[in-house]
Amino acid sequence: MSLLKVNNLGVQFQTPDGMVNAVNGVSFELDAGQTLGIVGESGSGKSQSVLAMMGLLAKNGRPTGEALYKGQNLLTMSPKQLNGIRGDRISMIFQDPMTSLNPYLTVERQMTEVLELHKGMTRKQAKKRAIELLEAVRIPEAARRIDMYPHEFSGGMRQRVMIAMALLCEPEVLIADEPTTALDVTVQAQILTLLKELQRDFGTAIVMITHDLGVVAGLCEKVMVMYGGRVMEYGTANDIFYQPSHPYTIGLLGALPRLDHDGDALVSIPGNPPNMANMPKGCPFTERCAHASAQCADVLPGLLPSAANPAVLRACHKPVAELKLELSHG
Ligand SMILES: Nc1ncnc2c1ncn2[C@@H]1O[C@H](COP(=O)(O)OP(=O)(O)O)[C@@H](O)[C@H]1O
Ligand code: SF4
Ligand SMILES: [Mg+2]
Repeated sequence: MSLLKVNNLGVQFQTPDGMVNAVNGVSFELDAGQTLGIVGESGSGKSQSVLAMMGLLAKNGRPTGEALYKGQNLLTMSPKQLNGIRGDRISMIFQDPMTSLNPYLTVERQMTEVLELHKGMTRKQAKKRAIELLEAVRIPEAARRIDMYPHEFSGGMRQRVMIAMALLCEPEVLIADEPTTALDVTVQAQILTLLKELQRDFGTAIVMITHDLGVVAGLCEKVMVMYGGRVMEYGTANDIFYQPSHPYTIGLLGALPRLDHDGDALVSIPGNPPNMANMPKGCPFTERCAHASAQCADVLPGLLPSAANPAVLRACHKPVAELKLELSHG
């Protein structure tokens, strides 16, 4: 049985302008120690997908489908059951550490409270464990700094404190929603290296959400590319990076800064993501796709194994071979 198996997950929001289908048909499996990257521009439905799994959608949101944690559907659990799993077996980290840190409590108090409550430790045992975890996330002088308040840490250090908090109960799954987006490139690289080491040491499975394909290179085994609330392409990180088969993925890869072309301008995908309240009936990428035909605007492409590489799922009417041809001429 997979640790996490998501089947046909959807999210609908009731709005004054009608129903918004923010997430449609998201499916994936995650085993212990594996990392899945969910990638796409802002507004593609990445955050809502994981918030739905965790029972954290806004009041006007409703999930559909299944999110099975060890065979149990998180979407139909009682709040009490879900609370037992959330923060303990599955924990989340966010772009802004202050969403999970309490500004009025010292780091020691917030960390030991969790361990006393969830693990039945004494205050003394809890403090020892908390210091170990701060050391594990490479906070220098952890034994002294544990008495500080969150605002006394730099941005990067605060992110480390949040990761240590998320690891307190040794979760089986860590969901990281753009955890490095607000950080500068050097600190971002340090945090990614840290997550990789923690995964090696703790065996935690990770779902890494990012708008930046560069972040998932090196960290993830599998990558899911989302656009307009739908999965465009899903496959191994290797296939997605080296043999992308969907025009949107190819566009995202074109938007990566190329280290080998120093000084080159970023090639980004022209245009903007679609408005979720007013989605085209066909492929969501139609308006921005250089390969779009009349069929694309009218008919939604299914997410199917690629003819060129059945290990990859892609949602596009255009066969890969034809894309490659056009790319090599373009
Ligand atoms: N409370 C809400 N009510 C209506 N629509 C929402 C709500 N929250 C999110 N959405 C819609 O869901 C879309 C996807 O959001 P999100 O998953 O946060 O995107 P991202 O990929 O940037 O994480 C948004 O573009 C927005 O249209
Ligand atoms: S289905 Fe059409 S519009 Fe959508 S990505 Fe493929 S070629 Fe482009
Ligand atoms: Mg988001």
